[in-house]
Parts: sequence; C-alpha cells; structure tokens
Amino acid sequence: MSKPETIHWEGDANGTLFMIDQTLLPVEFREIDFSKGCVEKVWEAIHSLRVRGAPAIGIAAAYGVCIGIQPVLNEMDEDKFFAKLNEVIDYLAGSRPTAVNLFWALDRMRDVANSVKQLMDVTQTFHPMEVANRLLMEARAIHEEDREICRAIGRFGAELLPDGAGVLTHCNAGGLATADYGTALAAFFWAAEHGKKLHIYADETRPLLQGARLTAWELKEHGIPVTLICDNMAAQVMREGKIQAVVVGADRITANGDTANKIGTYSVACLAHLHNIPFYVAAPKSTFDLTLAAGEQIPIEQRSPLEVTHGFGKQTAPDGIDVFNPAFDVTPAKYIAGIITELGVISPVTEENIRKVLG
Ligand code: MRU
Repeated sequence: MSKPETIHWEGDANGTLFMIDQTLLPVEFREIDFSKGCVEKVWEAIHSLRVRGAPAIGIAAAYGVCIGIQPVLNEMDEDKFFAKLNEVIDYLAGSRPTAVNLFWALDRMRDVANSVKQLMDVTQTFHPMEVANRLLMEARAIHEEDREICRAIGRFGAELLPDGAGVLTHCNAGGLATADYGTALAAFFWAAEHGKKLHIYADETRPLLQGARLTAWELKEHGIPVTLICDNMAAQVMREGKIQAVVVGADRITANGDTANKIGTYSVACLAHLHNIPFYVAAPKSTFDLTLAAGEQIPIEQRSPLEVTHGFGKQTAPDGIDVFNPAFDVTPAKYIAGIITELGVISPVTEENIRKVLG
C-alpha cells in the first residue's frame, strides 16, 4: 500500500479536503472527500473520530474553516462574509472538547482572518477570495509545521529509549493522529531509522481500540516489531520485565504538567510508577494550555454508552445497563518522567521547566 496521507487538500480555496476514514482501519482503507461547503461533514468526521488525535484534529478543523466559507466566496457584503466565517469557526469548536489543538488551530485561523480584515478596512477594499486564500495558506502552514514538529519530537524521543528496550504505548499517537510520523510513535520511527532496535507493546485501548486498529497497523506497516496486548495486561508485561519505558501522546497539558490523554493512560502511568519504569509524554507545543493551572480544569469528553455496550456492532452488555464512558483521563505531572516536545525534553516536569523550554 502506498503511504497514506492522513489529511490533504487539493486545489485552491475552492478545492477539496480529503481524509482517511480512521473508523474503518485496519480492515478497509478509504478516503472521505468533503464536498464544497459541507462543514457539517467535517464536524461529523471530527466528532465521530473519522479523523482523530490532537494535532490531526487541529489540522482538520483549520481546513474545515476553508470548507465552511466556500458557500460565501462570492459574498460581497463584508459583514455577512465575516459573520459566516465566525459562525463556521464557532461551530467547529464544538466538535470535541478535550484536545486543545482544535482551539489552537481555530484561533490561528480567526487571527489571520482578523488581520486580513483590518488591512482591508484600512484600504477600504474587500475581496472574499483574498481572505479565503490567506486562510488556506494558514491551514497549509499548520499542516506543514506539524510534519517538522513530529520529526523533532521523534529525534528527541528516540534519544531517551535504550537500544533493545521494550516500550509500551497507549492509544494512537502516530502518523494518523498528526500530519504524519506522529508524536509518541515518532520516537519509535526515528529510533528504527537510526538503527535502534525497540520492541513495542501496544495497548488495544478500549473502547474504540485505537491501539489495536491504528497503532498496531502503523507499526506493522513500518516494519517495527509490535505486540498487541489488552489494556488489562499492562501490569503483567511490566512485572515480567518486558517494558523499559512508556511513551504516550497528549490531548492537553496544563501549566503544571498534568496531562490529558486517552482514557487508560493514567492507569498505565500509575503502573509504570509502581514498577520504576520511566513514563514519557510526547506532544507539540500546541498541546500545552498554559491558561489552565492544573489537570482538574481540563474538560473531559463524555461519549456515548453504546461505545461500551455495542462496540463494533456487537452487543456485549445487558440492555439498559448504566455506563460511564469518559474519553480521556488526566495523568498527574508527578508520574511523568519527561515531556518530549519539538523544542526539547521537559524534565523534571515542573511549571518552571515547562515555561523555560516552551519559551
Ligand atoms: O479519541 P482520540 O482517538 O482522538 O484520542 C487520541 C489520543 O488520546 C492521542 O493519544 C492524543 O490525541 C495524541 S495524538 C498525537
């Protein structure tokens, strides 16, 4: 199979957005294309995890803004045009609550729109196509920057992993969750490309199985040795001495280093702590939310009970059973040995060090 692109845009501001439908992997590889102006379809793709993973959600939302304004590219009333643009941005911001990259990317798009508007107000000209082109440039920049960022994270992350190590990861923080290459998985890809031998243990990651469906698939595609385990086997593989490090991604990191990531990450961090195994988080600067002091302020997405009771079309629980289904949990900074960013590794994880590394 040729290298799949998680997200790509074809054409000018009137063009088309494509994304891999990640809900179908690994059984079926299909791209969704987003017909002109259909921002509802982009919202749905983010909400239902057809595109998922914090950086990829941000990139998808940025392009989603370009899709959302396509119906008003001939609108010559400046107020109406910008009202629609703001409506599209606010709408996309409601697609998922936890990954801060979504809001970060939408803020970038809004800032660009505002600066173009200011300039046009000064010159008393208004060209909707010019605003649209500038927004597409920004979405493309967010996308391209992420490729570079992932490689830098990979390089810093790989340095932390001893040759021959067994490494556990949870959920999917790979190429599918980013522009390409990933964050946590980037460390494994970089290590392999530079001659280090690692053996990865992938948690299957209930209830939506991002580890089994996506991480196992990506690592296999890259020829990296990977063993799939059920989430409840992590303690046993650690006790058997198979794990020398844990590396996971993140959806939002607060000023003190507390980290929201896929549900189950916190249990893995506790187990790693108990077994004296270093637990690393790999994430770009855009995943930090320094407006929040600590993890308890992070909004945690609650998802449908059906994901637990009727996963992948099979009923596995009694009718009417009460279900709790948070999509994320928060790992306290004290359990994190280091946060691997594109600017370097933050260790020990303290607010002071975070601010120092992030500048
Ligand atoms: O619900 P998901 O699949 O979007 O959750 C994804 C994760 O938790 C990832 O670990 C995180 O977004 C980092 S992706 C580089």
